[in-house]
Amino acid sequence: MKALVLSGGSGTRLRPFSHSMPKQLIPIVNKPVLEHVLGNIRDLGVTEVGIVVGTRASEIIEVVGDGSRLGVRVTYIHQEQPLGLAHCVSLARTFLGDDDFVMYLGDNMLPEGIVRAADEFRTQRPAAAVVVHEVADPRAFGVVELEPDGTVARLVEKPSDPRTNLALIGVYFFTPAIHEAVASIKPSARGELEITDAIQWLVENGAKVKADEYHGYWKDAGQAADVLDCNERLLADLRRENLGSVDSASEIGDRVHIGAGARIVRSRIDGPAVIGAGTVVEDCHIGPNTSIGSGCTLRATRVRDSIVMDGAEISHGPGLRYSLIGRNAVIGTGVAGAACHSLVVGDHTRIRVAA
Ligand code: G1P
Repeated sequence: MKALVLSGGSGTRLRPFSHSMPKQLIPIVNKPVLEHVLGNIRDLGVTEVGIVVGTRASEIIEVVGDGSRLGVRVTYIHQEQPLGLAHCVSLARTFLGDDDFVMYLGDNMLPEGIVRAADEFRTQRPAAAVVVHEVADPRAFGVVELEPDGTVARLVEKPSDPRTNLALIGVYFFTPAIHEAVASIKPSARGELEITDAIQWLVENGAKVKADEYHGYWKDAGQAADVLDCNERLLADLRRENLGSVDSASEIGDRVHIGAGARIVRSRIDGPAVIGAGTVVEDCHIGPNTSIGSGCTLRATRVRDSIVMDGAEISHGPGLRYSLIGRNAVIGTGVAGAACHSLVVGDHTRIRVAA
């Protein structure tokens, strides 16, 4: 089996981050979403991975490279315009050959993994199998109706009046039967070749399509609140480890990971929290539910329930909560007791300051 990972989307819902970083590279517990995805694929024993990249190709290639660091072999497939998920399958035709493959949307987090769904697909080998999850409001997703035996009866992309709560959550298993389906469908109302329509074509043409319900935690890393929620969820499994230095005036709780070369001085860190390599934390109270990237400097501040990305500097602020701080951002007055704010704010940025 091969894997096809789709990382071409622009992620406008995650502005302003999507201006400077594709959403697939947003770090969750200091690891890009895309690396979590590739980890789940490697857990299936699948090592041949095609990644479809769009306008942000160079940033993704810089992080993932040839995949060897992550135990996979990556082939990049360039998509000039976002013409839909089924369009990606047709672009990848040469890479895929006549192999079965798992298709995985590169911004979907399924921390419980997809081994069970892959095993079912491999043993039963229907023409296609989709992973579904019950959601409260399925109108923003592909929605699936099932027969009593778990076979898919019908799929509809983003219906205004959904008939079930079962949403497609970005993981699909295909035999080569999908290629004829992709070649047979027409663009949807949003002008895209929808994979949902291609799978519906299979159903209408008598092919067997199965659904496997994923009961674990799932998030599409499309919005800041979801990214923070996902970070909190994954931090819960953290184990205590200290690869840096902690002075005797600091207090470190359980489930705190301190990276190599990080320095903790006169600070308190409540777990779960991760502090990246080479980061300096002085006179701070950090955590819980916080990931601080590598090469950051935090002085005399309070940060909790947040993600701070590599190279950020935060000092003498009143404290941050539910915040997502981009790479190399500089926040705070820089000196104790300053009376006014001084901001350089990019497009689509959101700032809530304490009174
Ligand atoms: C895509 C699919 C949709 C699926 C969703 C999962 O939607 O078209 O069927 O439910 O991913 O994240 P999009 O993100 O393109 O709106």
